[in-house]
Amino acid sequence: RIPEPCIVVIFGASGDLTKRKLLPALYHLDQSGLLPKDFAVVGVARRDLSATFGPDMKDGIMKGGGVEENDPKLKPFMDRISYFATEFDDDAGFDKLKAHLAELDSKFNTQGNRLFYLAVAPEFFADITRRLGKHGMAKPEAGDKHWVRVIIEKPFGTDLESARKLNDEINDVLAEDQIFRIDHYLGKETVQNILVFRFGNGIFEPVWNRNFIDHVEITAAESIGIEGRGPFYEKAGAVRDVLQNHVMEVLSFVAMEPPDSFEAEAVRTEKLKVWRAIEGIPVNNTVRGQYGPGKVDGKEVVGYRQEDRVSPTSSTETFAAIRLEIENWRWAGVPFYLRAGKRLAKRVTEVTIVFKQPPLHLFKSNSSEDNIAPNIIKMRIQPDEGISLQFGAKVPGPTTNLAQVNMAFSYADAFGKSSANGYERLLLDAMLGDATLFAHRDGVEATWALFTPILEAWAKVEAKHFPNYAAGSEGPECADELLAKDGRKWVEL
Ligand code: BG6
Repeated sequence: RIPEPCIVVIFGASGDLTKRKLLPALYHLDQSGLLPKDFAVVGVARRDLSATFGPDMKDGIMKGGGVEENDPKLKPFMDRISYFATEFDDDAGFDKLKAHLAELDSKFNTQGNRLFYLAVAPEFFADITRRLGKHGMAKPEAGDKHWVRVIIEKPFGTDLESARKLNDEINDVLAEDQIFRIDHYLGKETVQNILVFRFGNGIFEPVWNRNFIDHVEITAAESIGIEGRGPFYEKAGAVRDVLQNHVMEVLSFVAMEPPDSFEAEAVRTEKLKVWRAIEGIPVNNTVRGQYGPGKVDGKEVVGYRQEDRVSPTSSTETFAAIRLEIENWRWAGVPFYLRAGKRLAKRVTEVTIVFKQPPLHLFKSNSSEDNIAPNIIKMRIQPDEGISLQFGAKVPGPTTNLAQVNMAFSYADAFGKSSANGYERLLLDAMLGDATLFAHRDGVEATWALFTPILEAWAKVEAKHFPNYAAGSEGPECADELLAKDGRKWVEL
């Protein structure tokens, strides 16, 4: 399906996201023939960047999309991009913006349809939405057939109360079906493939439950640090930045029941049931860490407290791990261990499903440990995207010894390297009005309800041993202890 003609209006267009991700994504969609031919993009920001915006975006598209400067397809695309400067609380500015969009409608035949993208700091989400409402841009006028949708970036709130408040403020102006809360993990092919793997095949789902699965691990490890985002990260930390959103989205795909269709409502309902079946996460099932100086990829790096614009006594966590249980028929008694952190040994995002042992050990293992290694399904979300199944095989020779081998599917080998970033699919879906891969109000509040008590408990007790892991390591010891309590170990990064 090709979306209807429309204008994509990006608030916060001077930020990195627009240049690095959004414009390259739109360009790709255009080149793949997935954008309507009647189409325009407007970048909105507070500073006057009219002279530099075009060249800057062009640079972003070239870098992010591997496009050559003199590519003949670039110019017609760039001609559809314009820049508009306004303060976000300036009523006159919003009136002018409205007029600018109307002009573009006449010029490009975009027919009044609007996709607003709020790529701004979270404190502006509600203000901008309110102003769109006040200036008649938030809802189609009565009798009008055109549509208005608003994509809202993360972070969506900083705890349950602020998320509720933000939802209320936005819902005051927009109907829920106009709101697209983005989590770019849902745009990743490999995350979507979790559902395809489970529900598009006949052989996995019968064993996807407490009878066969011992435990599940979800890891979002990054080797990068905070990349100059000190002031943001100081307030965020690993839970707010990654665990509450990206990792919980992945968890819901791993654990949800088959929806009765792939429609937004059906998928969101099943996800919500997973989050609501988690009956709280006791604080003693959580650990936090902060990196000190160390070596990443052979290079010395500073500790978190030495990063630019970070307090030298900061207690912000750059690593967090939790153990939770989903108390429903499928999962009762199966622990899920989740961890996310910066400056770890490697960049790896993956889901590890560890199966139960066979009832009897008939064979000897070749490994140093006495126990035969379990069957493991690993879904590698990034990098080296793919899925593997670990199982035991007979080592050739006169004795019957077992070794662990891997059956592996690699995206790159099977389908070639994809240049798509998650934003492509999500922008397209929003233009089509399909909210399946976006967060719903209830879902956001359900995940905040789980993490808010943890954050509150952490805030009360000073993190005594920070920093407690060296940059470039596998994370703090307390994370290992969390699993050791259950007689388990994390898979190695
Ligand atoms: C963002 C976080 O939402 O996700 C970043 O703010 C993090 O801190 C990033 O690095 C990870 O995304 P990806 O796609 O690189 O895994």
